[in-house]
Amino acid sequence: MNTTEAIKARRAVKHFDPEHRMPEAEERRLLDLAMLSPTAFNIQNWRFVLVKDRSLREKIRKAAWDQAQVTEASLLIVLCADLNAWDKDPRRYWREAPTEVGDFMIPAIGEYYRGKSQVQRDEAMRSCGIAAQTIMLAAKSLGYDSCPMDGFDYDKVGELIDLPADHTIAMFVVVGKGTVAPWPKPGQLSEGDVIFEDRFPVV
Ligand SMILES: Cc1cc2nc3c(=O)[nH]c(=O)nc-3n(C[C@H](O)[C@H](O)[C@H](O)COP(=O)(O)O)c2cc1C
Repeated sequence: MNTTEAIKARRAVKHFDPEHRMPEAEERRLLDLAMLSPTAFNIQNWRFVLVKDRSLREKIRKAAWDQAQVTEASLLIVLCADLNAWDKDPRRYWREAPTEVGDFMIPAIGEYYRGKSQVQRDEAMRSCGIAAQTIMLAAKSLGYDSCPMDGFDYDKVGELIDLPADHTIAMFVVVGKGTVAPWPKPGQLSEGDVIFEDRFPVV
């Protein structure tokens, strides 16, 4: 399946075969691909929590409006981010780069994020959003369906997964073998509603 096909075929699927277990090799492949997602300054601030414990999944489902995907899907990935990744030995993000590139980037990272909690949080959401789409498209190309999710109690799920204080949760992505086809796209906006040239129209 090529990229265009995967983009068109991906849908938010709500019911999965609860008996399906994703082979270890496929899970690895999916996560290897997720880790190729781009991040600003290459800080790789995403953290992927794979919830495998069935009883923990049940508890998370309760904190997610009892949505069936949480326990039926083969994988429940809680996409988190380290808000301080930018400050944790940033040289490692550029260790293979030419020295002059690293020497430029490392101080620039600090200047961009230091003392700016909103920027740190925005970056967490940007990185995780991009990684989520990578996971969903990669899943599709591996023959799986997926669902992005933010319908859950973030504080409760944070407690359940022992989220560190300087991390945040962005969203879930569940991946599995879909059993119920999604309804047709319910209401796509027109190009005129969302695409503009140069500037927004004056109203
Ligand atoms: C950030 C985000 C959060 C979402 N949360 C949920 C959710 O909690 N439960 C759910 O069933 N669908 C959820 N969805 C799926 C959307 O409803 C779905 O993507 C949208 O209706 C478009 O449908 P499509 O993905 O099949 O094209 C979420 C989607 C996104 C992007």
